[in-house]
Parts: sequence; C-alpha cells; structure tokens
Amino acid sequence: MDYLQINGGNKLSGSVTISGAKNAALPIIAATILSDKEIKLTNLPNVVDIRTLLNLLTMLGGTVEHDKTVAKINNGTITSTKAVYEIVSQMRASILVLGPLLARFGECEVSLPGGCAIGQRPIDLHLKALEAMGAHIEIKGGYVRAEAPNGLQGANIIFDKITVGGTENIVMAAALAKGTTTIINAAKEPEVVQLCEMIADAGVKIEGIGTNELTIEGTDREPLSFKTVEIIPDRIEAGTYLCAGAITHSSITLNKINPQHIRTSTDKLESMGCTFDIGEDSMTIHPPKELRPVNLITIEYPGFPTDMQAQFMAVAAVAEGESIIEERLFENRFMHVSELNRLGADIWLKGSIAAVKGVEKLYGADVMATDLRASSALVLAALVAEGTTNVRRIYHLDRGYDDLEGKLSALGADIARKKEQR
Ligand code: UD1
Repeated sequence: MDYLQINGGNKLSGSVTISGAKNAALPIIAATILSDKEIKLTNLPNVVDIRTLLNLLTMLGGTVEHDKTVAKINNGTITSTKAVYEIVSQMRASILVLGPLLARFGECEVSLPGGCAIGQRPIDLHLKALEAMGAHIEIKGGYVRAEAPNGLQGANIIFDKITVGGTENIVMAAALAKGTTTIINAAKEPEVVQLCEMIADAGVKIEGIGTNELTIEGTDREPLSFKTVEIIPDRIEAGTYLCAGAITHSSITLNKINPQHIRTSTDKLESMGCTFDIGEDSMTIHPPKELRPVNLITIEYPGFPTDMQAQFMAVAAVAEGESIIEERLFENRFMHVSELNRLGADIWLKGSIAAVKGVEKLYGADVMATDLRASSALVLAALVAEGTTNVRRIYHLDRGYDDLEGKLSALGADIARKKEQR
C-alpha cells in the first residue's frame, strides 16, 4: 500500500492547474447511459473514482475508450442492467446509474452502497422519488431492484432534504420519463447545473437550472444525443490548493478555475487575512504573516461546502486564536480531528461542532487517512508540521485528487509517494 511522506516547512511558489471536477464528471458519466450513441467527455480528472465508474459502464456492456482526461463512451452496446456490489462498494456515487438505467431500460439492479466513513449516507430520498415516478422498488439480497416496464412517469417530487446525488438521479430519470417532472428543494451545486445543461443541450426542456426548483419534460424513453462535454473545474481541488497557500504562508496561483464557484472559500480565507488577485479563470492567493481564526458552518451550495471543512480545519489549527467549525451535512465527518491532534493541533469536539485553538507549531507524525477530504487536510497540516509526516491509506486521496503529490512538488513541497515495507 502506498503512503505519502512529507517533510514540512517548505514555502510554496508558482502556479498549479486545477483538474476537472470529479463530482461533476461522475453524474455526467452516469448520464451517458441516457444515450445509445457515442459521446466525448473532456477535462476529466485522472482519478480512481472516474476509472471505477467507467469500469462499471464497461461491465454493463458499454464501450469505453479512456485516456487520462478524455473518454469516448458509447452505451448503445449495453447488455446488462446490473451494477454489482464489487464496484458499488468501492464508490458510493455508483448509485448514480440507478436513475438512468431504470429510465432507459425499464429495469435495473444496483447494489446498495452501504455506509461510509463520513456517516450513514442513505439513499431513501432517491428511492422515494423514483417510486413517485411509478417505479416498483424492492430491496433484496443487498440490491435495489427497480422496475418500470412501461417507463417512468413525470411526477411532482419534493425532497425533504436537499440531496446532490438524489437531484442528479431524478433529473436523469426525468429526462427519459413520460411527461413533466418537477423537483422542489433540488440541489443547485455547480455540478448539478452542469448535468442539467448537458441534458438540456441534448434537447430536453429543463426550467429552473441553478435554482431549487427544476421542471423537466421527459422524452418518453427516446434516447438522447449528447454533444461533447468539457467538465467544469474542480472547486474542491481549487479550494484545497488555496488552503495550501494559506497554511504555508505562500503566494501561489491557481489556473483553470471558476472563481465564482469558490467564493465561499475565498470569503473565509479573506476573513482569515488573505488577499486575492482574481482573473477570469485564475487566482493568486496572498496570505498574511499571521492567519486569523475563522468560524464556519457547512451547508448546501452556495453555502460553505462540507467537502472543504477538513482542509479549513487544518488551516485553522495554525491560525492565531480560536475557530469554531460546525458540520451540518454529515454526522460523522470529523474523523480527521484525532489525526490532526496527533500532529499537535488543539481541537475539541462536541457533537457536530469543533473548537479549534490555533497552535504555534505542528509536529510530524504517522497519521491515517480516513476519507477523501480528511486525507487532504492531513497533507495540508503536514506541509507546515516540523519534521516528517507519513500519511497512510492514501487510496482515499487517489479517489479524488489528480496527482496531488506531483502538483504539490511542482509548487515546492517536499512530498513523495512511498511503498509500505511489509
Ligand atoms: C455529494 C458529493 C459529496 C458531498 C455531498 C454534499 C458527489 C459524488 N458527492 O454527495 O462529495 O460531500 O454531495 O455536498 O457529488 N441524504 C439522505 N437521504 C438520501 C440522500 C441523502 O438522508 O437519500 C442525506 C445525506 O445523508 C446527507 C445529506 O442528505 O446528510 C446530503 O447528502 P447528498 O447531497 O445526497 O450527498 P451525496 O450526493 O451523496
């Protein structure tokens, strides 16, 4: 198993190019199931999660040509509608194939994803909405078996809770349903917006894109013809590199970003004393000598993203004063706290609130990555910890960060991937 060895203390400089957004690419890859013709995707991040979902399409019988950032997918050749446990258990987002498979083929079986390190993460809202669209759903043997032999029907869906994956699944299902579907309390993350735009570009009438209420007129099972899609920049990767600049007190430049999508991160970093030069698709961060503490609450877009909570906690760990961080989306997303404390951070946890007392110094240690974003928080802390930090279980990082050690090395960090000696 690989681990990352980081010797802290280096200043960073120069620029980094941000990859395409994993969380935009995954639903877009799932949406290709709505078509029986070839579609080309560009600016894909070169990460494990993308390869996992493309593998799943291949296992269903789809034809996939993939080379790092570009994929050509033809789902005209699909012969199976069963998404097996071996793949779904590797990546919860595989559940995104449920809506499009059911909508196009009238039946499918998708393994239940189960829990994960950051909490229960149920899919009840996805299932309830598909039932409202006429699907018959049964859970048996660890699989969701869904049937709608005569196709899905448009329906009024009111989500009790805003769900990104749920909204994406229902938008895809609604695209091939008969009649009009309205989704109230829909998610409006940029990744949801790009999925809606891709489907709208294929001729499906969608109103309310970018708002909490979507209206979709389905094609009654007529497969879609998609244009080439260029995946939007990854706002979480961008935010992570801004945090790398802030924590190391280094001015660095991010290229190929959408500054609008990372407004909450830049606002919070501004309140910590950082300043920014912002271009159309680039940004340079100028951190202060001493970072001020920060208070933040994670919430749906355009609020502060839960996927940036761990990285900001690492930065707050070395700010001057006490920061308060509240996690409102996932009940167990504080696994990084004990690991950051092993590096010398002073973080006190009660329920969904963490109080982070800034310390003067962190010290290198062996730490364990627990989930994707928690892992990047440990890497950030290691960049300033005195001595050597080994971050273990980095397969979490490989799921979602494109060449993290390569990009950080190019900025001047002392970071290397090593193989665990057995
Ligand atoms: C997506 C992102 C993830 C991000 C999260 C919140 C992808 C691939 N993943 O995950 O990185 O952290 O949005 O921004 O895009 N919920 C239910 N029932 C459901 C569905 C969700 O109770 O059927 C709850 C969840 O447990 C959670 C909340 O709703 O508390 C939000 O989850 P959701 O937006 O669905 O997250 P994901 O789509 O899984």
